[in-house]
Amino acid sequence: MIIAIDGPAAAGKGTLAKRIATALNLPYLDTGILYRATAKRVLEAGQDPDDVQAALAAAQALGAEDLKRTDLRDAATSKAASQVASIPQVRQALLDFQRHFGNSHGAVLDGRDIGTIIFPHADVKLFVTASVEARAERRYKEFLAKGEAVGLAEVIADVHARDEADRTRAAAPLMMAMDAELIDTTSMDASTAFARALEVIRKKTSR
Ligand code: CDP
Repeated sequence: MIIAIDGPAAAGKGTLAKRIATALNLPYLDTGILYRATAKRVLEAGQDPDDVQAALAAAQALGAEDLKRTDLRDAATSKAASQVASIPQVRQALLDFQRHFGNSHGAVLDGRDIGTIIFPHADVKLFVTASVEARAERRYKEFLAKGEAVGLAEVIADVHARDEADRTRAAAPLMMAMDAELIDTTSMDASTAFARALEVIRKKTSR
């Protein structure tokens, strides 16, 4: 069983994906971590996230330790993640890992291109979105809870810029798969979104 969850930044994909994975007893992969960890390696080496060779080498060097890092969610890493994610060679280098993860025991995966490129035949595809204001406000609250000093206007601008970059890039742009079910969480709390997702999963599968 493969459940693909795609959508723009801070739409609540991660929270939803984890709840679904727990409920269905499936492994969970946050594929954004792969791009964030690649970006972090590039930044720490003092290299440019738009440098194809540097970004590719960083993606190829990823190991289990990179994926356990807890310092990948700051604004600079988020922006650089979107930059390395627009490089086709980087996406190609990370593709096998994602497919292998899903094909081993089934999985819930969240990202931008899971239902379109990584698992085009996923059993269930959800496209999770919300207004840019709602998404930025959630991300802003996450930063505040972590004690990070950021302004709401700055977070809105970052989320908006990253969405634009992710939607308009040539390589695996963010888009809703034709056969995905849309869940707009603008005025839904996490439990309502989870209940809606379970309905879709039940309809599409026998679980
Ligand atoms: O948590 P948030 O939604 O803000 O971002 P994320 O899922 O961790 O992804 C960070 C960045 O990685 C995105 O802005 C995309 O550019 C890129 N990404 C991607 O291109 N493809 C994926 N499957 C996952 C992430």
